[in-house]
Amino acid sequence: MEKPQILITWWLGYIGSHGVVAFYEAGYIPVIVDNLSNTNEEVLDNIEKIISYRPDFYNVDLRDKTKLQEIFQIHNFDGVVHFAWLKSVGESCDKALEYFDNNIVGSLRLFECMEEFNVRNIIFSSSATVYSPENFENANNEPVSESGLAWNTTNPYGTSKYLLEKILYDLAKFSNFNVMNLRYFNPIWAHPSWLIWEAPQGIPNNLLPYIFKVVTGDFEYLRVFGDDYNTSDWTGVRDYIDVCDLINGHLKAFHLLDSNELNTWFFRSVNLWTWIWSSVLEMLQLVSEVTDLPLKHVVFPRRPWDLDSVYCNPSLAFELLWWKSETSLRESLENSWKFYKGR
Ligand code: WQD
Repeated sequence: MEKPQILITWWLGYIGSHGVVAFYEAGYIPVIVDNLSNTNEEVLDNIEKIISYRPDFYNVDLRDKTKLQEIFQIHNFDGVVHFAWLKSVGESCDKALEYFDNNIVGSLRLFECMEEFNVRNIIFSSSATVYSPENFENANNEPVSESGLAWNTTNPYGTSKYLLEKILYDLAKFSNFNVMNLRYFNPIWAHPSWLIWEAPQGIPNNLLPYIFKVVTGDFEYLRVFGDDYNTSDWTGVRDYIDVCDLINGHLKAFHLLDSNELNTWFFRSVNLWTWIWSSVLEMLQLVSEVTDLPLKHVVFPRRPWDLDSVYCNPSLAFELLWWKSETSLRESLENSWKFYKGR
């Protein structure tokens, strides 16, 4: 039997590249679309080293519908895993229209092709940035569940994902799309092969890549953005999840979409989290313990879009997908340290 083909958008990015490997290893033929805006083809070479297979790759911007249609004509897709994003929260505040154009318009062209070629299954890579401060306040510091989004996102990146969730819901209801909408927050670490990892250009925006720049001596100290949050040590609290666990959740979600059990339209939002929460200072302390290095920090002002604590209830993922994260935070950090030492 021919292996099912699956379209993976923005595959050369951090999470997408892990997705390509995992879907290939699970028996799918990944076909890749990426406009190389934030990455390069070296990632493709490294993927090939891991899976001994070079997937079909199209250097195409999703907003180019004609080229996208050609790809849909060539391949008979079983479904789509849609990672294609500009994804820096801070940058989105400076370039809101560029984010809406890339993320929303690009996605609309993709959905049009899906409808035209009758490809109905989609995993949508959403985010905890769709939640609003009210979601967390109303939950009285209990982890929020998937239902009841408040419309008050704190940045254009989150807004673009919020809007696309709504669009996909209607496409499920009125155009028979089957949508698994996965919301996740802070993926960390890399593939055990050490061949693909998060390699931000320039100064990293995210916490862990920045901390490891301090570990490797590139930066003298961590800038802690705000020490007046309503948390136990006054710094921001997040849920950090191992990227391989996260991708495993995508596989389980796709299996469900691909099963014959869905005979009506389907849309589910699922949080993919560990249910272990850490503050910025706790993360710094943990990395310091793992590396056995003293790490300095200096307090800077808050970033305007940051929330105090962002963590969700992951129980639906277990009930629906039989998924939970397997890797402890310490294990991910130890692996990260081995990786940075070995490079
Ligand atoms: C975490 C905590 C900061 C850097 C990210 C992505 C976003 C989205 C979700 C997918 C916060 C603090 C950070 C630093 C710091 N991904 N911090 N010093 O903003 O929670 O969201 O994941 O949808 O694209 O940006 O992650 O790592 O930037 O911040 O003190 O140098 O660390 O204030 O409390 P964030 P982050």
